[in-house]
Amino acid sequence: MVKLNSLFWGPFFFICFIEFVSLRADAAVKKYQFDIQVKNVSRLCHAKPIVTVNGMFPGPTIYVREGDRVLVNVTNYAQYNMSIHWHGLKQFRNGWADGPAYITQCPIKTGHSYTYDFNVTGQRGTLWWHAHVFWLRATVYGAIVIMPKQGTPYPFPRPNSEFNLLFGEWWNTDVEEVVKQGNKLGLPPKMSDAHTINGKPGPLFPCSEKHTFAIQVEQGKTYLLRIINAALNDELFFAIAGHNMTVVEIDAVYTKPFTTQAILIAPGQTTNVLIQANQVPGRYFMASRPFMDAPLSIDNKTATAILQYKGIPSSVVPTLPHLPAANDTAFALSYNSKLRSLNSPKFPANVPLKVDRHLFYTIGLGINPCPTCQNGTQLTASLNNISFVMPQTGLLQAHYFKLKGVFRTDFPDRPPTPFNYTGAPLTANLKTSLGTRLSKIAFNSTVELVLQDTNLLTVESHPFHLHGYNFFVVGTGIGNFDPKKDPAKYNLVDPPERNTVGVPTGGWTAIRFRADNPGVWFMHCHLELHTSWGLKTAFVVENGQGSDQSILPPPKDLPPC
Ligand code: C2O
Repeated sequence: MVKLNSLFWGPFFFICFIEFVSLRADAAVKKYQFDIQVKNVSRLCHAKPIVTVNGMFPGPTIYVREGDRVLVNVTNYAQYNMSIHWHGLKQFRNGWADGPAYITQCPIKTGHSYTYDFNVTGQRGTLWWHAHVFWLRATVYGAIVIMPKQGTPYPFPRPNSEFNLLFGEWWNTDVEEVVKQGNKLGLPPKMSDAHTINGKPGPLFPCSEKHTFAIQVEQGKTYLLRIINAALNDELFFAIAGHNMTVVEIDAVYTKPFTTQAILIAPGQTTNVLIQANQVPGRYFMASRPFMDAPLSIDNKTATAILQYKGIPSSVVPTLPHLPAANDTAFALSYNSKLRSLNSPKFPANVPLKVDRHLFYTIGLGINPCPTCQNGTQLTASLNNISFVMPQTGLLQAHYFKLKGVFRTDFPDRPPTPFNYTGAPLTANLKTSLGTRLSKIAFNSTVELVLQDTNLLTVESHPFHLHGYNFFVVGTGIGNFDPKKDPAKYNLVDPPERNTVGVPTGGWTAIRFRADNPGVWFMHCHLELHTSWGLKTAFVVENGQGSDQSILPPPKDLPPC
Protein backbone atom coordinates (compact mmCIF):
# COMPACT_ATOMS: atom_id res chain seq x y z
CA MET A 1 0.00 0.00 0.00
CA VAL A 2 1.20 3.48 -0.78
CA LYS A 3 0.99 5.97 2.00
CA LEU A 4 1.29 9.64 1.13
CA ASN A 5 1.29 12.24 3.81
CA SER A 6 2.77 15.13 1.95
CA LEU A 7 1.15 17.30 -0.68
CA PHE A 8 4.58 17.54 -2.24
CA TRP A 9 4.47 14.05 -3.68
CA GLY A 10 1.11 14.44 -5.39
CA PRO A 11 2.30 15.65 -8.81
CA PHE A 12 5.04 13.02 -8.93
CA PHE A 13 2.71 10.22 -8.19
CA PHE A 14 2.00 9.44 -11.79
CA ILE A 15 0.00 6.24 -11.66
CA CYS A 16 -2.71 7.15 -9.24
CA PHE A 17 -5.08 4.30 -9.67
CA ILE A 18 -3.50 1.04 -8.72
CA GLU A 19 -5.07 -2.25 -8.05
CA PHE A 20 -2.93 -5.03 -6.67
CA VAL A 21 -4.43 -8.39 -6.05
CA SER A 22 -2.86 -10.91 -3.77
CA LEU A 23 -4.55 -14.26 -3.78
CA ARG A 24 -5.16 -16.30 -0.69
CA ALA A 25 -6.84 -19.67 -0.90
CA ASP A 26 -10.29 -18.37 0.05
CA ALA A 27 -10.35 -14.67 -0.66
CA ALA A 28 -8.27 -11.84 -2.01
CA VAL A 29 -7.09 -8.50 -0.70
CA LYS A 30 -7.91 -5.74 -3.16
CA LYS A 31 -6.09 -2.44 -2.79
CA TYR A 32 -7.07 0.88 -4.30
CA GLN A 33 -5.53 4.33 -4.17
CA PHE A 34 -8.01 7.25 -4.24
CA ASP A 35 -6.41 10.65 -4.75
CA ILE A 36 -8.86 13.45 -4.09
CA GLN A 37 -7.95 15.99 -6.75
CA VAL A 38 -9.49 19.08 -8.26
CA LYS A 39 -9.87 18.96 -12.01
CA ASN A 40 -11.30 21.28 -14.64
CA VAL A 41 -14.31 19.74 -16.35
CA SER A 42 -16.56 21.33 -18.92
CA ARG A 43 -20.23 20.58 -19.47
CA LEU A 44 -23.14 22.61 -20.87
CA CYS A 45 -20.85 25.27 -22.36
CA HIS A 46 -19.30 25.95 -18.91
CA ALA A 47 -15.94 24.87 -17.51
CA LYS A 48 -15.32 24.67 -13.78
CA PRO A 49 -13.02 22.96 -11.32
CA ILE A 50 -14.64 19.94 -9.64
CA VAL A 51 -13.50 17.62 -6.88
CA THR A 52 -12.72 14.14 -8.25
CA VAL A 53 -11.10 10.84 -7.35
CA ASN A 54 -7.95 10.31 -9.47
CA GLY A 55 -9.16 13.01 -11.86
CA MET A 56 -12.02 10.81 -13.02
CA PHE A 57 -15.69 11.84 -13.29
CA PRO A 58 -17.51 9.67 -12.29
CA GLY A 59 -14.78 8.08 -10.19
CA PRO A 60 -13.20 4.62 -10.58
CA THR A 61 -15.21 1.43 -10.18
CA ILE A 62 -14.29 -0.82 -7.26
CA TYR A 63 -14.33 -4.44 -8.47
CA VAL A 64 -14.37 -7.08 -5.75
CA ARG A 65 -15.58 -10.57 -5.14
CA GLU A 66 -17.79 -11.64 -2.27
CA GLY A 67 -15.46 -12.58 0.61
CA ASP A 68 -12.67 -10.17 -0.37
CA ARG A 69 -10.97 -7.72 1.93
CA VAL A 70 -10.76 -4.21 0.47
CA LEU A 71 -8.24 -1.51 1.35
CA VAL A 72 -8.86 1.93 -0.11
CA ASN A 73 -6.26 4.51 0.76
CA VAL A 74 -7.78 7.96 0.35
CA THR A 75 -5.35 10.85 0.10
CA ASN A 76 -6.83 14.32 0.08
CA TYR A 77 -5.13 16.84 -2.23
CA ALA A 78 -8.20 19.12 -2.38
CA GLN A 79 -8.95 22.17 -0.26
CA TYR A 80 -12.11 20.55 1.11
CA ASN A 81 -12.53 18.14 3.99
CA MET A 82 -13.34 14.68 2.63
CA SER A 83 -14.83 11.36 3.68
CA ILE A 84 -16.03 8.46 1.53
CA HIS A 85 -19.02 6.21 2.23
CA TRP A 86 -19.35 2.69 0.76
CA HIS A 87 -23.10 2.87 0.31
CA GLY A 88 -24.80 -0.44 1.09
CA LEU A 89 -21.77 -2.32 2.44
CA LYS A 90 -22.71 -3.66 5.84
CA GLN A 91 -19.36 -3.03 7.57
CA PHE A 92 -20.01 -5.65 10.23
CA ARG A 93 -18.63 -4.36 13.61
CA ASN A 94 -16.58 -1.98 11.52
CA GLY A 95 -18.30 1.41 11.43
CA TRP A 96 -14.80 2.93 11.25
CA ALA A 97 -14.85 2.19 7.53
CA ASP A 98 -18.40 3.42 6.90
CA GLY A 99 -17.48 7.01 6.12
CA PRO A 100 -20.22 9.56 6.97
CA ALA A 101 -18.43 12.66 8.30
CA TYR A 102 -18.98 13.37 12.01
CA ILE A 103 -20.99 10.15 12.38
CA THR A 104 -18.35 7.42 12.11
CA GLN A 105 -15.23 9.50 11.52
CA CYS A 106 -13.96 13.01 11.29
CA PRO A 107 -13.17 14.14 7.75
CA ILE A 108 -9.81 13.59 6.07
CA LYS A 109 -8.19 17.02 6.02
CA THR A 110 -6.21 18.47 3.13
CA GLY A 111 -2.84 16.74 2.83
CA HIS A 112 -3.88 13.74 4.92
CA SER A 113 -4.74 10.10 4.22
CA TYR A 114 -6.99 7.44 5.65
CA THR A 115 -7.30 3.78 4.65
CA TYR A 116 -10.79 2.34 4.57
CA ASP A 117 -10.30 -1.33 5.44
CA PHE A 118 -13.30 -3.63 5.16
CA ASN A 119 -14.50 -7.11 4.27
CA VAL A 120 -17.23 -7.80 1.75
CA THR A 121 -19.20 -10.53 3.47
CA GLY A 122 -22.50 -12.07 2.44
CA GLN A 123 -23.20 -9.52 -0.28
CA ARG A 124 -22.93 -9.60 -4.06
CA GLY A 125 -24.24 -7.24 -6.73
CA THR A 126 -24.08 -3.53 -7.43
CA LEU A 127 -23.47 -0.87 -4.80
CA TRP A 128 -21.67 2.45 -4.97
CA TRP A 129 -19.42 4.84 -3.10
CA HIS A 130 -19.70 8.59 -2.63
CA ALA A 131 -18.31 11.52 -0.66
CA HIS A 132 -20.25 11.87 2.60
CA VAL A 133 -19.52 15.40 3.69
CA PHE A 134 -21.69 18.39 2.73
CA TRP A 135 -22.73 18.22 -0.94
CA LEU A 136 -19.40 16.95 -2.30
CA ARG A 137 -20.99 13.76 -3.52
CA ALA A 138 -22.26 15.87 -6.45
CA THR A 139 -19.01 15.02 -8.24
CA VAL A 140 -17.33 12.43 -5.99
CA TYR A 141 -18.98 9.07 -6.65
CA GLY A 142 -18.45 5.74 -8.40
CA ALA A 143 -19.69 2.17 -8.72
CA ILE A 144 -18.92 -0.88 -6.56
CA VAL A 145 -19.30 -4.19 -8.37
CA ILE A 146 -19.27 -7.28 -6.14
CA MET A 147 -18.96 -10.49 -8.14
CA PRO A 148 -20.47 -13.63 -6.61
CA LYS A 149 -18.07 -16.16 -5.07
CA GLN A 150 -16.00 -18.17 -7.53
CA GLY A 151 -18.14 -21.03 -8.81
CA THR A 152 -21.44 -19.49 -7.71
CA PRO A 153 -23.45 -18.51 -10.78
CA TYR A 154 -26.01 -15.73 -10.97
CA PRO A 155 -29.58 -16.97 -10.39
CA PHE A 156 -30.45 -15.63 -13.87
CA PRO A 157 -29.16 -16.21 -17.43
CA ARG A 158 -25.53 -15.24 -17.70
CA PRO A 159 -25.16 -11.98 -19.65
CA ASN A 160 -22.67 -11.74 -22.52
CA SER A 161 -21.38 -8.49 -21.15
CA GLU A 162 -22.22 -5.71 -18.69
CA PHE A 163 -22.22 -1.91 -18.32
CA ASN A 164 -22.49 0.50 -15.38
CA LEU A 165 -24.89 3.43 -15.67
CA LEU A 166 -24.53 6.11 -12.99
CA PHE A 167 -27.13 8.85 -12.90
CA GLY A 168 -26.01 12.20 -11.55
CA GLU A 169 -26.70 15.92 -11.50
CA TRP A 170 -24.59 18.79 -12.80
CA TRP A 171 -24.45 22.42 -11.69
CA ASN A 172 -22.75 25.02 -13.90
CA THR A 173 -21.41 26.76 -10.81
CA ASP A 174 -19.59 25.49 -7.72
CA VAL A 175 -22.02 23.26 -5.83
CA GLU A 176 -20.74 24.23 -2.37
CA GLU A 177 -21.29 27.89 -3.33
CA VAL A 178 -24.82 27.12 -4.55
CA VAL A 179 -25.57 25.54 -1.18
CA LYS A 180 -24.06 28.42 0.79
CA GLN A 181 -26.18 30.83 -1.22
CA GLY A 182 -29.34 28.83 -0.43
CA ASN A 183 -28.50 28.70 3.28
CA LYS A 184 -27.97 32.44 3.34
CA LEU A 185 -31.49 32.93 2.07
CA GLY A 186 -32.93 30.11 4.18
CA LEU A 187 -34.30 28.61 0.95
CA PRO A 188 -33.53 25.55 -1.19
CA PRO A 189 -30.36 26.00 -3.26
CA LYS A 190 -30.81 26.46 -7.00
CA MET A 191 -31.82 23.31 -8.89
CA SER A 192 -29.14 21.47 -10.91
CA ASP A 193 -28.58 22.56 -14.51
CA ALA A 194 -28.53 19.07 -15.96
CA HIS A 195 -29.03 15.43 -15.23
CA THR A 196 -26.28 13.11 -16.39
CA ILE A 197 -25.60 9.48 -17.27
CA ASN A 198 -22.00 8.51 -16.45
CA GLY A 199 -21.22 12.20 -16.02
CA LYS A 200 -22.63 13.15 -19.44
CA PRO A 201 -25.93 14.97 -20.04
CA GLY A 202 -26.54 13.86 -23.64
CA PRO A 203 -27.60 15.89 -26.71
CA LEU A 204 -30.84 17.33 -25.28
CA PHE A 205 -28.64 19.82 -23.38
CA PRO A 206 -26.61 22.66 -24.96
CA CYS A 207 -22.99 21.91 -26.01
CA SER A 208 -23.53 18.26 -25.07
CA GLU A 209 -23.30 16.39 -28.40
CA LYS A 210 -19.80 15.22 -27.49
CA HIS A 211 -20.80 14.64 -23.88
CA THR A 212 -23.03 11.67 -24.60
CA PHE A 213 -22.41 8.24 -23.13
CA ALA A 214 -22.89 5.33 -25.54
CA ILE A 215 -22.73 1.57 -25.32
CA GLN A 216 -22.34 -0.80 -28.24
CA VAL A 217 -24.35 -4.02 -28.37
CA GLU A 218 -24.48 -6.97 -30.74
CA GLN A 219 -27.70 -8.38 -32.13
CA GLY A 220 -28.84 -11.49 -30.23
CA LYS A 221 -26.76 -10.89 -27.09
CA THR A 222 -27.84 -10.28 -23.50
CA TYR A 223 -26.45 -7.47 -21.35
CA LEU A 224 -26.49 -6.70 -17.65
CA LEU A 225 -26.93 -3.01 -16.81
CA ARG A 226 -25.84 -1.98 -13.33
CA ILE A 227 -27.86 1.17 -12.69
CA ILE A 228 -27.03 3.55 -9.84
CA ASN A 229 -28.90 6.70 -8.87
CA ALA A 230 -26.20 9.07 -7.63
CA ALA A 231 -28.36 12.17 -8.24
CA LEU A 232 -28.55 14.49 -5.26
CA ASN A 233 -32.22 15.33 -5.14
CA ASP A 234 -34.27 13.41 -7.69
CA GLU A 235 -35.98 10.08 -7.95
CA LEU A 236 -35.73 9.02 -11.57
CA PHE A 237 -37.55 7.03 -14.20
CA PHE A 238 -35.35 5.26 -16.72
CA ALA A 239 -36.24 3.55 -20.00
CA ILE A 240 -34.61 2.38 -23.24
CA ALA A 241 -36.37 3.01 -26.56
CA GLY A 242 -37.66 -0.24 -28.07
CA HIS A 243 -36.23 -2.49 -25.32
CA ASN A 244 -37.78 -3.99 -22.23
CA MET A 245 -35.73 -4.55 -19.09
CA THR A 246 -35.82 -7.51 -16.70
CA VAL A 247 -35.13 -6.47 -13.11
CA VAL A 248 -32.96 -9.09 -11.38
CA GLU A 249 -31.41 -7.31 -8.40
CA ILE A 250 -31.88 -4.20 -6.24
CA ASP A 251 -29.37 -2.80 -3.75
CA ALA A 252 -27.18 -5.91 -4.15
CA VAL A 253 -29.97 -8.37 -3.36
CA TYR A 254 -31.42 -10.73 -6.00
CA THR A 255 -35.09 -10.26 -6.86
CA LYS A 256 -37.78 -12.36 -8.51
CA PRO A 257 -37.23 -11.31 -12.13
CA PHE A 258 -39.93 -9.22 -13.82
CA THR A 259 -40.03 -7.39 -17.11
CA THR A 260 -40.83 -3.69 -17.39
CA GLN A 261 -40.67 -0.84 -19.90
CA ALA A 262 -39.34 1.61 -17.32
CA ILE A 263 -37.76 1.48 -13.88
CA LEU A 264 -38.01 3.87 -10.95
CA ILE A 265 -34.89 4.47 -8.88
CA ALA A 266 -34.39 6.77 -5.89
CA PRO A 267 -31.13 8.46 -4.90
CA GLY A 268 -29.00 5.87 -3.15
CA GLN A 269 -30.64 2.88 -4.81
CA THR A 270 -29.17 0.51 -7.37
CA THR A 271 -31.00 -1.71 -9.86
CA ASN A 272 -29.60 -4.47 -12.07
CA VAL A 273 -31.51 -5.22 -15.24
CA LEU A 274 -30.97 -7.64 -18.12
CA ILE A 275 -31.65 -6.41 -21.63
CA GLN A 276 -31.64 -8.29 -24.90
CA ALA A 277 -30.37 -6.76 -28.11
CA ASN A 278 -33.27 -8.22 -30.06
CA GLN A 279 -34.58 -5.20 -32.00
CA VAL A 280 -33.95 -3.89 -35.50
CA PRO A 281 -30.26 -2.91 -35.39
CA GLY A 282 -30.13 0.85 -34.93
CA ARG A 283 -29.48 3.54 -32.36
CA TYR A 284 -31.78 3.87 -29.36
CA PHE A 285 -31.86 6.48 -26.65
CA MET A 286 -31.68 5.45 -23.01
CA ALA A 287 -33.23 8.24 -20.96
CA SER A 288 -33.77 9.25 -17.34
CA ARG A 289 -36.09 11.96 -16.03
CA PRO A 290 -37.30 12.89 -12.51
CA PHE A 291 -40.36 11.44 -10.84
CA MET A 292 -41.98 14.12 -8.71
CA ASP A 293 -45.59 13.83 -7.61
CA ALA A 294 -45.48 16.44 -4.85
CA PRO A 295 -47.02 19.86 -5.45
CA LEU A 296 -43.61 21.49 -5.88
CA SER A 297 -41.69 22.98 -8.76
CA ILE A 298 -41.04 20.28 -11.32
CA ASP A 299 -37.63 19.38 -12.63
CA ASN A 300 -38.29 17.81 -16.03
CA LYS A 301 -34.80 17.62 -17.47
CA THR A 302 -34.09 14.47 -19.48
CA ALA A 303 -30.60 12.95 -19.54
CA THR A 304 -29.88 10.64 -22.46
CA ALA A 305 -27.29 8.06 -23.47
CA ILE A 306 -27.21 5.86 -26.56
CA LEU A 307 -27.54 2.14 -27.09
CA GLN A 308 -25.99 1.45 -30.46
CA TYR A 309 -25.99 -1.80 -32.39
CA LYS A 310 -22.65 -2.86 -33.85
CA GLY A 311 -22.21 -1.75 -37.46
CA ILE A 312 -24.74 1.09 -37.30
CA PRO A 313 -23.26 4.46 -38.24
CA SER A 314 -23.40 7.25 -35.67
CA SER A 315 -25.24 9.45 -38.18
CA VAL A 316 -28.47 7.51 -37.55
CA VAL A 317 -30.76 9.64 -35.33
CA PRO A 318 -31.88 7.68 -32.23
CA THR A 319 -35.48 7.50 -31.05
CA LEU A 320 -36.51 8.51 -27.53
CA PRO A 321 -38.15 6.01 -25.16
CA HIS A 322 -41.55 6.53 -23.63
CA LEU A 323 -41.06 7.56 -19.99
CA PRO A 324 -43.87 7.76 -17.41
CA ALA A 325 -45.10 11.32 -16.82
CA ALA A 326 -43.27 13.24 -14.08
CA ASN A 327 -46.26 12.88 -11.72
CA ASP A 328 -47.22 9.29 -12.57
CA THR A 329 -47.86 8.06 -9.01
CA ALA A 330 -49.75 5.01 -10.29
CA PHE A 331 -46.71 3.80 -12.23
CA ALA A 332 -44.45 4.36 -9.22
CA LEU A 333 -46.68 2.41 -6.83
CA SER A 334 -47.23 -0.43 -9.27
CA TYR A 335 -43.50 -0.67 -10.08
CA ASN A 336 -42.51 -0.80 -6.40
CA SER A 337 -45.15 -3.44 -5.69
CA LYS A 338 -43.46 -5.77 -8.20
CA LEU A 339 -40.17 -5.79 -6.30
CA ARG A 340 -39.85 -9.09 -4.41
CA SER A 341 -36.84 -10.80 -2.89
CA LEU A 342 -35.77 -13.90 -4.78
CA ASN A 343 -36.12 -15.85 -1.52
CA SER A 344 -34.56 -19.07 -2.84
CA PRO A 345 -32.93 -21.76 -0.65
CA LYS A 346 -29.55 -20.31 -1.59
CA PHE A 347 -30.63 -16.70 -1.11
CA PRO A 348 -33.33 -16.77 1.57
CA ALA A 349 -35.23 -13.72 2.82
CA ASN A 350 -34.76 -13.91 6.60
CA VAL A 351 -37.56 -11.52 7.51
CA PRO A 352 -37.95 -10.93 11.27
CA LEU A 353 -41.41 -12.32 12.10
CA LYS A 354 -41.48 -11.20 15.71
CA VAL A 355 -40.76 -7.57 16.58
CA ASP A 356 -38.97 -6.54 19.80
CA ARG A 357 -39.03 -2.82 19.21
CA HIS A 358 -41.69 -0.78 17.38
CA LEU A 359 -40.64 2.64 16.11
CA PHE A 360 -42.84 5.21 14.41
CA TYR A 361 -41.09 8.26 12.90
CA THR A 362 -42.88 11.15 11.22
CA ILE A 363 -41.12 13.03 8.43
CA GLY A 364 -41.80 16.76 8.49
CA LEU A 365 -40.69 19.92 6.80
CA GLY A 366 -40.68 23.08 8.86
CA ILE A 367 -39.68 26.68 9.23
CA ASN A 368 -37.33 27.80 11.99
CA PRO A 369 -36.26 31.30 12.94
CA CYS A 370 -32.85 32.19 11.51
CA PRO A 371 -31.41 35.55 12.55
CA THR A 372 -28.51 35.23 10.07
CA CYS A 373 -30.75 34.34 7.10
CA GLN A 374 -31.95 37.01 4.71
CA ASN A 375 -35.64 36.19 5.40
CA GLY A 376 -35.16 35.75 9.14
CA THR A 377 -36.34 32.15 8.76
CA GLN A 378 -35.03 28.97 7.21
CA LEU A 379 -36.56 25.77 5.94
CA THR A 380 -35.82 22.71 8.04
CA ALA A 381 -36.72 19.05 8.07
CA SER A 382 -37.27 16.74 11.01
CA LEU A 383 -38.02 13.23 12.26
CA ASN A 384 -40.51 13.15 15.12
CA ASN A 385 -40.21 16.93 15.13
CA ILE A 386 -36.46 16.82 15.82
CA SER A 387 -34.10 18.41 13.36
CA PHE A 388 -30.73 16.69 13.69
CA VAL A 389 -27.71 18.83 14.58
CA MET A 390 -24.35 17.60 13.30
CA PRO A 391 -21.80 17.13 16.11
CA GLN A 392 -18.17 18.31 16.02
CA THR A 393 -16.80 14.88 17.00
CA GLY A 394 -17.47 11.57 15.31
CA LEU A 395 -20.42 9.90 17.08
CA LEU A 396 -18.84 6.46 16.80
CA GLN A 397 -15.71 7.67 18.63
CA ALA A 398 -17.88 9.39 21.24
CA HIS A 399 -19.77 6.11 21.74
CA TYR A 400 -16.70 3.85 21.70
CA PHE A 401 -14.61 6.02 24.04
CA LYS A 402 -17.65 6.99 26.15
CA LEU A 403 -17.16 10.74 25.62
CA LYS A 404 -19.80 12.76 27.42
CA GLY A 405 -21.87 15.59 25.99
CA VAL A 406 -21.58 14.73 22.29
CA PHE A 407 -25.01 13.12 21.80
CA ARG A 408 -28.05 11.95 23.71
CA THR A 409 -29.81 8.61 23.32
CA ASP A 410 -33.32 9.88 23.99
CA PHE A 411 -34.65 10.01 20.46
CA PRO A 412 -38.39 9.31 20.95
CA ASP A 413 -39.92 6.08 19.57
CA ARG A 414 -42.96 8.02 18.37
CA PRO A 415 -43.94 11.66 17.67
CA PRO A 416 -44.72 13.88 20.70
CA THR A 417 -48.43 14.09 19.83
CA PRO A 418 -50.30 12.05 17.23
CA PHE A 419 -52.18 14.08 14.59
CA ASN A 420 -53.78 13.58 11.20
CA TYR A 421 -50.39 13.27 9.51
CA THR A 422 -51.48 13.46 5.91
CA GLY A 423 -54.61 15.59 6.29
CA ALA A 424 -55.03 19.19 5.16
CA PRO A 425 -51.74 21.09 4.89
CA LEU A 426 -50.57 21.94 8.37
CA THR A 427 -48.99 25.25 9.08
CA ALA A 428 -49.12 25.11 12.86
CA ASN A 429 -46.41 23.21 14.66
CA LEU A 430 -43.79 23.97 12.03
CA LYS A 431 -41.15 24.93 14.55
CA THR A 432 -38.95 21.93 15.22
CA SER A 433 -36.62 21.27 18.11
CA LEU A 434 -32.92 20.84 17.46
CA GLY A 435 -30.68 18.14 18.84
CA THR A 436 -28.09 15.43 18.33
CA ARG A 437 -30.44 12.77 19.59
CA LEU A 438 -30.06 9.08 18.77
CA SER A 439 -32.02 5.93 19.50
CA LYS A 440 -30.36 3.13 21.45
CA ILE A 441 -31.10 -0.40 20.18
CA ALA A 442 -30.33 -3.63 22.04
CA PHE A 443 -27.99 -6.03 20.26
CA ASN A 444 -29.74 -8.59 18.07
CA SER A 445 -33.20 -7.21 18.77
CA THR A 446 -35.66 -7.05 15.90
CA VAL A 447 -36.83 -3.60 14.93
CA GLU A 448 -39.84 -2.41 12.98
CA LEU A 449 -39.68 1.19 11.86
CA VAL A 450 -42.66 2.89 10.24
CA LEU A 451 -41.69 6.04 8.39
CA GLN A 452 -44.72 8.31 8.01
CA ASP A 453 -44.74 11.25 5.60
CA THR A 454 -46.70 14.29 6.79
CA ASN A 455 -48.36 17.32 5.27
CA LEU A 456 -46.36 19.72 7.40
CA LEU A 457 -45.79 22.42 4.78
CA THR A 458 -46.22 19.84 2.00
CA VAL A 459 -46.25 16.11 1.37
CA GLU A 460 -43.25 14.76 -0.53
CA SER A 461 -41.58 11.42 -1.17
CA HIS A 462 -38.40 10.65 0.77
CA PRO A 463 -35.83 7.94 -0.03
CA PHE A 464 -34.57 6.76 3.38
CA HIS A 465 -31.19 5.09 3.73
CA LEU A 466 -29.94 3.13 6.72
CA HIS A 467 -26.20 2.57 7.11
CA GLY A 468 -24.77 -0.73 8.35
CA TYR A 469 -27.82 -2.82 7.42
CA ASN A 470 -30.18 -4.11 4.80
CA PHE A 471 -33.82 -4.08 5.82
CA PHE A 472 -37.00 -5.67 4.55
CA VAL A 473 -39.72 -3.41 3.19
CA VAL A 474 -42.69 -5.28 4.68
CA GLY A 475 -45.43 -2.77 3.88
CA THR A 476 -46.26 0.58 2.39
CA GLY A 477 -49.39 2.64 1.80
CA ILE A 478 -50.91 6.03 1.10
CA GLY A 479 -52.36 8.14 3.92
CA ASN A 480 -51.87 7.49 7.63
CA PHE A 481 -50.41 4.20 8.86
CA ASP A 482 -53.06 2.23 10.74
CA PRO A 483 -51.38 0.07 13.42
CA LYS A 484 -54.56 -2.03 13.74
CA LYS A 485 -55.22 -2.84 10.09
CA ASP A 486 -52.03 -2.35 8.08
CA PRO A 487 -49.74 -4.99 9.65
CA ALA A 488 -52.20 -7.69 8.57
CA LYS A 489 -51.35 -6.80 4.98
CA TYR A 490 -47.57 -7.02 5.39
CA ASN A 491 -45.51 -9.21 3.11
CA LEU A 492 -43.42 -11.31 5.51
CA VAL A 493 -42.50 -13.93 2.90
CA ASP A 494 -40.55 -12.27 0.08
CA PRO A 495 -40.50 -8.51 0.70
CA PRO A 496 -37.80 -6.51 -1.07
CA GLU A 497 -34.56 -6.35 0.90
CA ARG A 498 -32.61 -3.15 0.44
CA ASN A 499 -30.68 -0.30 2.04
CA THR A 500 -32.69 2.65 0.68
CA VAL A 501 -36.46 2.85 0.37
CA GLY A 502 -38.82 5.51 -0.91
CA VAL A 503 -41.51 6.67 1.52
CA PRO A 504 -44.36 7.60 -0.86
CA THR A 505 -45.69 11.15 -1.08
CA GLY A 506 -48.30 11.47 1.67
CA GLY A 507 -47.85 7.84 2.69
CA TRP A 508 -45.85 5.46 4.87
CA THR A 509 -43.37 2.60 4.63
CA ALA A 510 -42.67 -0.11 7.20
CA ILE A 511 -39.24 -1.74 7.38
CA ARG A 512 -37.85 -4.51 9.56
CA PHE A 513 -34.30 -5.50 10.44
CA ARG A 514 -32.38 -7.45 13.06
CA ALA A 515 -29.93 -5.21 14.94
CA ASP A 516 -27.01 -7.63 14.73
CA ASN A 517 -24.38 -5.07 13.75
CA PRO A 518 -23.09 -3.08 16.73
CA GLY A 519 -22.08 0.52 16.12
CA VAL A 520 -23.45 3.95 15.36
CA TRP A 521 -25.42 3.87 12.13
CA PHE A 522 -26.64 6.91 10.30
CA MET A 523 -30.18 6.99 8.89
CA HIS A 524 -31.24 9.80 6.62
CA CYS A 525 -33.22 10.96 3.66
CA HIS A 526 -30.98 10.51 0.61
CA LEU A 527 -32.20 13.77 -0.93
CA GLU A 528 -29.17 15.89 -0.07
CA LEU A 529 -31.41 18.91 0.31
CA HIS A 530 -33.39 17.26 3.10
CA THR A 531 -30.33 15.70 4.75
CA SER A 532 -28.77 19.13 5.04
CA TRP A 533 -32.01 20.47 6.55
CA GLY A 534 -31.77 17.92 9.38
CA LEU A 535 -33.80 14.94 8.08
CA LYS A 536 -31.51 12.43 9.72
CA THR A 537 -30.72 10.58 12.94
CA ALA A 538 -28.63 7.59 13.96
CA PHE A 539 -29.06 4.32 15.81
CA VAL A 540 -26.65 3.27 18.54
CA VAL A 541 -26.68 -0.51 18.35
CA GLU A 542 -25.18 -1.91 21.53
CA ASN A 543 -22.54 -4.61 21.70
CA GLY A 544 -23.56 -8.22 22.23
CA GLN A 545 -22.10 -10.60 24.82
CA GLY A 546 -20.16 -12.79 22.39
CA SER A 547 -16.50 -12.28 21.55
CA ASP A 548 -17.40 -11.43 17.95
CA GLN A 549 -20.36 -9.21 18.80
CA SER A 550 -18.71 -5.95 19.70
CA ILE A 551 -17.34 -3.00 17.78
CA LEU A 552 -13.79 -3.59 16.51
CA PRO A 553 -11.08 -1.26 17.83
CA PRO A 554 -10.54 1.86 15.70
CA PRO A 555 -7.74 1.83 13.11
CA LYS A 556 -4.60 3.79 13.98
CA ASP A 557 -4.94 6.24 11.11
CA LEU A 558 -8.55 7.24 11.90
CA PRO A 559 -8.65 11.00 11.18
CA PRO A 560 -8.65 13.14 14.34
CA CYS A 561 -11.25 15.89 14.77
CU1 C2O B 1 -25.45 7.05 0.29
CU2 C2O B 1 -25.48 8.20 4.20
O1 C2O B 1 -25.45 7.70 2.22
